[in-house]
Amino acid sequence: MRSILILNAKGGSGKTTVATNLAGYYAAEGARVALADFDPQGSSTDWLAARPDTAARIHGVEAHQRGLRVPRSTDVVIMDAPSRTHEESLASLLKRAQTVIIPVVPSPVDIRAAQRFFGELRALRTLVQKDVKIATVASRVREGARTTEDLEDLLMDVRLPSGRRFPFLTWIRQSSNYLKAAERGMSIFEFAPLATAADREYWQPLLRWLASARSIPRNG
Ligand SMILES: Nc1ncnc2c1ncn2[C@@H]1O[C@H](COP(=O)(O)OP(=O)(O)O)[C@@H](O)[C@H]1O
Ligand SMILES: [Mg+2]
Repeated sequence: MRSILILNAKGGSGKTTVATNLAGYYAAEGARVALADFDPQGSSTDWLAARPDTAARIHGVEAHQRGLRVPRSTDVVIMDAPSRTHEESLASLLKRAQTVIIPVVPSPVDIRAAQRFFGELRALRTLVQKDVKIATVASRVREGARTTEDLEDLLMDVRLPSGRRFPFLTWIRQSSNYLKAAERGMSIFEFAPLATAADREYWQPLLRWLASARSIPRNG
């Protein structure tokens, strides 16, 4: 079973947006998907409740209450982390994941918070003891925003204690399609291709990375 954690201690960084769109993408591809909501606010759970019966089925797990119990036949579990995850709860989430995606918004406040968060991740020894593949994406990116360059500089150079870099994969554009998708329990990949082509395009490096051996730990 593939396990992918969407993580960032900062609220509003796009975790639930990335988690739900990824879940919808894999489900539409025919995979058996579980969406594990670790956030007591329950945004992923709400999204799933709005999902139409006609859409590909996704198994919801209220993991913050019941722990991570997924059906044995699950192909992919997407874990939506709560904001303000630190120390033990951070380590415990990391232990469950093969792959971690960290969305970061290009704003000065978010960039500073991300810097601190990367420091925290580095300080967690679990990261070096167990191989977890981590990558970053820029999230809610507005065309031409100046802070986008600062974020790119930061994300290009985030390293693990081993000296290995976290790959920076792509920009996820700010787009009303994500708001529509959030409201309807859908992913942008389940809307008419023409209406979402520009947004989908930016997901390709992330989807390719997730499909490649580079995002899967050798022992995991
Ligand atoms: N790429 C995007 N384009 C437009 N709105 C977005 C995008 N990503 C997130 N949002 C919106 O920003 C808000 C915060 O995003 P969310 O995914 O809930 O973040 P988090 O789960 O990290 O708190 C939500 O209202 C969401 O719909
Ligand atoms: Mg969320």
